[in-house]
Amino acid sequence: MDKKNKKFNVVIAGGGSTYTPGIVMMLLSNQDRFPLESLTLYDNDAERQAVLGEAIKILMHEQAPQIRYEYTVDPVVAFTGKDFCMAHIRVGKFAMREQDEKIPLRYGVVGQETCGPGGIAYGMRSITGMMEIIDYMDKYSPDGWILNYSNPASIVAEACRVMRPKARIINICDMPIATKTRMSYIVNKDPKDLDVRYFGLNHFGWWTSVTDELGNDLMPQIQDYVSKNGYLTPKAIEKQHMEPSWQATHRKAADLMKVDPRFLPNTYLKYYIFPDYVVEHSDPNYTRANEVMNGREKRIFGAARDIIAAGTAVNGGFEIDVHASFIVDLATAISYNTHEIMLCIVENKGAICNFDPTAMVEVPCVIGSRGAEPICQGYIPTFEKGMMEEQLAVERLVVEAYVEHSYQKLWQALTLSKTVPSATVAKKILDDLIVANKNYWPELH
Ligand code: NAD
Ligand code: G6P
Ligand code: MN
Repeated sequence: MDKKNKKFNVVIAGGGSTYTPGIVMMLLSNQDRFPLESLTLYDNDAERQAVLGEAIKILMHEQAPQIRYEYTVDPVVAFTGKDFCMAHIRVGKFAMREQDEKIPLRYGVVGQETCGPGGIAYGMRSITGMMEIIDYMDKYSPDGWILNYSNPASIVAEACRVMRPKARIINICDMPIATKTRMSYIVNKDPKDLDVRYFGLNHFGWWTSVTDELGNDLMPQIQDYVSKNGYLTPKAIEKQHMEPSWQATHRKAADLMKVDPRFLPNTYLKYYIFPDYVVEHSDPNYTRANEVMNGREKRIFGAARDIIAAGTAVNGGFEIDVHASFIVDLATAISYNTHEIMLCIVENKGAICNFDPTAMVEVPCVIGSRGAEPICQGYIPTFEKGMMEEQLAVERLVVEAYVEHSYQKLWQALTLSKTVPSATVAKKILDDLIVANKNYWPELH
C-alpha cells in the first residue's frame, strides 16, 4: 500500500497498565502524522483490562469513532494483523514489585524496581512474559514491530538478544528523554532542539555532550546548574517523576556529578554509586511500590471508573505525558523512515568503541524502517567502563541463569551487583526471592 495513505494497526500489550490511557491520548492527538486503522488493548488480567478498556472505549467513541477499537485477553485477537505492538507489561504486577523492593531492604540492600536484587528478580519474571509476546507477534504479525517499555529493559534486551535474536523488537526507556526535557528547561530551550551524545546501559549511563540546534555547547551551563541543583527545575515540567521521592532522585544528581564532573549522569546511577545513602533514606515498610499503588494506580483507575460512571470522557482524568510521546515518535520514525535520532537499547556493534560489541547498550540511534541503528559514541573512560562491565556481567548472568535454570549463576549475579556487599548477603536475599517468586521463575537447580 502507498505509505502516505497507510493507516496503522496497533496493539498495546499490558493494556491494563497505568500508562495505557496516556499512550492512547497521545496516539489520538497524533492522528495527522500517525493515523490508526485499529487500536487493540491486550492484558492477561481480565479485570484490570476491563476497567481501562471500557473507559477507553468511551473515549475512542467520542474522539475517534473511525478507529476500530477493542480490548481483549485473547492473544489471537490481540496480535493478528498488527503493525506495532507497544508493550509495557509488569509480570507479577505491583504486588511483586513490592516484594522486589522490600526483600533486599530486610538485609540493608537497595530495594528498587530495576536496580540491584529487585531488578534481577523482576528480570527473571519479565523474560517469560516478554518472550511470550515476541512469540505471539512472530506467529500472528511477523512483519510487525514490538516497541518495548517493559522493565527491567536492560535484562529484557539481553534476553531478546540471546533467546530471540531475530525478533523485531526495540527496547526503550523514557528516563533520558524526561531528563533531557529537564535540561531544556534549565537552558530555556525546546527539548527537540537539544542534540545529545550519551553512552551506557539502561538506567546506567552518562551524557557526554549537549548542544543546541546551532551546535552551541550547552554542557557548561547545564553542568553548572546540575552540580548545584541536580535536575530539579525552577518550575514543574512534567506529570511523571514529580512526587517527593522522585524530586530527591533528581536532586541527588548533584552528588553524582561530583564523582565525575565531566559528564551528566542518569539519575538511576544513585542506586549504584550511593547505595548506602539510598538504604538510609528508604522506609522498609513503605517503598515506591506503595507510593505508586496509592498514587498513580488509584488515580488512573479512579479516573477510568469515573468516566464509565459518567458515560463520557469529556473533562475526564486521562492525560498525556513525555513517556507517551517517545513511543509514538518512535513508531512514526520507523513507519516513515525519518532517520530521526533517539536513544534506544541496542547491540553495541562498536558504538562504544572500547566496550563489548555484543553488549546491549543505550546510545543515540538513527531510527528508520530498518529499526534502530547505533551511532558511534567513541571511547569511554576507565571509571564508567569499569562500572558498565560489572553491571553488564550481572545482566548476562541473569539471562544465563534463566536459560540454564542455574541457582549458581543467579547467586553470582546478585553477588556481583554493586548494590550487594557480599556473597553471604546475596545468598540470603536470593533464597527469599526464590520463595516469593515461586509462581514466576523457572525452578533453579
Ligand atoms: P501496571 O502494573 O499498572 O501495568 C502492567 C500491566 O501488565 C498489568 O495490567 C498486568 O496485568 C499486565 N501484565 C502482566 N503480565 C502480563 C503478560 N504476560 N501479558 C500481558 N499483560 C501482562 O504497571 P505500570 O506501572 O503501568 O508499568 C508498566 C510497565 O512499564 C512496567 O514494566 C514498568 O516498569 C514499565 N515502564 C518502563 C519505562 C521505561 O523507561 N522503560 C517507563 C515507565 C514504565
Ligand atoms: C522512569 C524509568 C522507568 C521506570 C519508572 C518508574 O520513568 O525510566 O523505567 O519504570 O521511572 O516510575 P514509578 O513511578 O513507577 O516509580
Ligand atoms: Mn526506564
